[in-house]
Amino acid sequence: MREVMKIVFSTHNKNKLKEVKALMPSYIELLSLTDIGCNEDIPETSETIEGNALLKATYVKEKYGYNCFADDTGLEVIALNNEPGVYSARYAGSDNNSEANMSKLLKNLENKNNREARFKTAISLIIDGKEELFIGVCEGEIADKPRGNAGFGYDPIFQPNGFEKTFAEMTLEQKSEIGHRGKAVRLLIKFLS
Ligand code: IMP
Repeated sequence: MREVMKIVFSTHNKNKLKEVKALMPSYIELLSLTDIGCNEDIPETSETIEGNALLKATYVKEKYGYNCFADDTGLEVIALNNEPGVYSARYAGSDNNSEANMSKLLKNLENKNNREARFKTAISLIIDGKEELFIGVCEGEIADKPRGNAGFGYDPIFQPNGFEKTFAEMTLEQKSEIGHRGKAVRLLIKFLS
């Protein structure tokens, strides 16, 4: 039997935790920020998703000493010069309101023919003093209006290429199989094993 490896996932986002936990093999024990007593908001002040993922992972390593990883995700919309990108959480204001973010995005796309978009996840891992980076990308398009109740964030308006459903109309397993986070997490798991 393999020895169990404890690792912290540096996020307060319960939806991300649920997605990532479902993919982890039994020899990786995922600890949440709540599990290690970290209740503070971790600053995300970088101008890139890779930089923000590293900030969130470094914070936990330096303050709590655990091996850990963090995810930062951005939605890049081609007709909007890849916005909102790293500003996806704060697109319509500082309170990360998904309804307001989606409304603003749909409004800004009203007169555009090109609705191509991509989700990009950067996972930064800090383990035994070393840093690693894993990237997962999912290409798709922005739907005309929100559809579905599953998932979180921009899921109701993102339809991955080759599918008639938005992420919010898919099961967690379907989203993870083709999605940005699932791809990045599988690279992370491959590295850890
Ligand atoms: P962050 O990675 O937590 O900074 O997320 C940036 C923004 O993208 C937030 O508004 C999230 O709700 C949204 N977001 C992150 N991951 C996903 C996803 O998998 N689907 C839809 N929206 C997401």
